[in-house]
Amino acid sequence: MTVATPAQTTTGGLDLIRTQPYTDWAPAVSAETRAQLRRELEQGAVLYFPDLHFRFQPGEERFLDSRWSDGKSKNINLRPNEDAVRGAAGSAQDLADIHALIKRYAESSEALIHSLFPEYAPHMVRAGTSLRPSEIAGRPVSWRKDDTRLHVDSFPSNPMLGKRLLRVFHNIDPQAPRVWRVGEPFADFAARFVPKTHGMWPGQAWLMKQLHVTKRLRSEYDHRMLQLHDLAKADLDYQKTVPQQEFQFPPGATWIVFSDQLLHAALRGKAMMEQTIYLDPKAIGDHTHSPEAVLSRMLGRPMVAA
Ligand code: SIN
Ligand code: FE
Repeated sequence: MTVATPAQTTTGGLDLIRTQPYTDWAPAVSAETRAQLRRELEQGAVLYFPDLHFRFQPGEERFLDSRWSDGKSKNINLRPNEDAVRGAAGSAQDLADIHALIKRYAESSEALIHSLFPEYAPHMVRAGTSLRPSEIAGRPVSWRKDDTRLHVDSFPSNPMLGKRLLRVFHNIDPQAPRVWRVGEPFADFAARFVPKTHGMWPGQAWLMKQLHVTKRLRSEYDHRMLQLHDLAKADLDYQKTVPQQEFQFPPGATWIVFSDQLLHAALRGKAMMEQTIYLDPKAIGDHTHSPEAVLSRMLGRPMVAA
C-alpha cells in the first residue's frame, strides 16, 4: 500500500504507485511476489523503487550537466549493439566515459527485469538507453513533442506491431525530484478517444514505408496509437480534467512502467536515465489491459496482422 504523502496529489481516486523495498539491481524475489508485481505492471501500475540507487563511478557526476548534449538532441542515447553514444559532445575520453555510464545503466536495468520477471527474459530485446541531462520544465517544444502533457508512448517512424514498451527510469539528479503525472487506465482513455481515430487508407502503410516515413510497414495498431498520443496531447480540457495523480520521484529512485499503456507526463526534473525494452506480447500474462487487446476489442478485429 502506498501512503499519501505531500509528494503526491491525486484526483479521481487514482493510486497507481506501487512502492517496492529492493535496494539491489538483481534482487532475490519470491515467486509469489514476482507474480504480484507482474500483475500490477501489466494492469498499468508504476512499480516504484525509492531505494534502488544507481551509483556513479568516480568522475561520472560531471555528466549531470546539459553541456554534454550536442545541442541537436535533448537526450544522449546509446543504441543496442553500438559502441558510441549519440547526441553527446566532448573529448574522446569523455565520450568513452559517458558510454560506460550509460552501458552500465542498460545492464543494471536488464538485470532488474530479469530478476523480477524471468518469464519476460526470453521475449525481451534491449532497445535504446538514454541519459537526459536537461531540465524538462520550460523547454520550447511543439505540442506533439511536449511530454509535460499526458500521453502514451508511440513512435511515428518506428512501428511496434504490438510489441510492448517496457521502460526503466531512474532519477539520477542528486537534488531535484522528477515530477510526473499519471492518468486514468488505458481502457478509459481509449473509450474516450478511439472513436475520434481512423484506420489507414489502402496502400498507406506501403507508401509510408516506400517514402521512409516509417522503418517498416505500419500496423493499424501503430496508426491508432499515434492518433491516441496526439489526441490526448492536443486536448487541454482532457489534460486538466482526466483523473490523474502527480508523483514526485525523489533523487535516487527507480521506476518501471509499460509506457505504451500508462498515461504519463513529466513535468519537472533535471537528470534522468532511461532504458527501453521491447517485449514480445507473447510474454504478457494477462492481456486484458494491454493496448493492443483493448483496441482490438473496441474495434472488433485484431490490430496487428497475424
Ligand atoms: C516521457 O517518457 O514521456 C518522459 C519521461 C521523463 O522525461 O521523465
Ligand atoms: Fe512518454
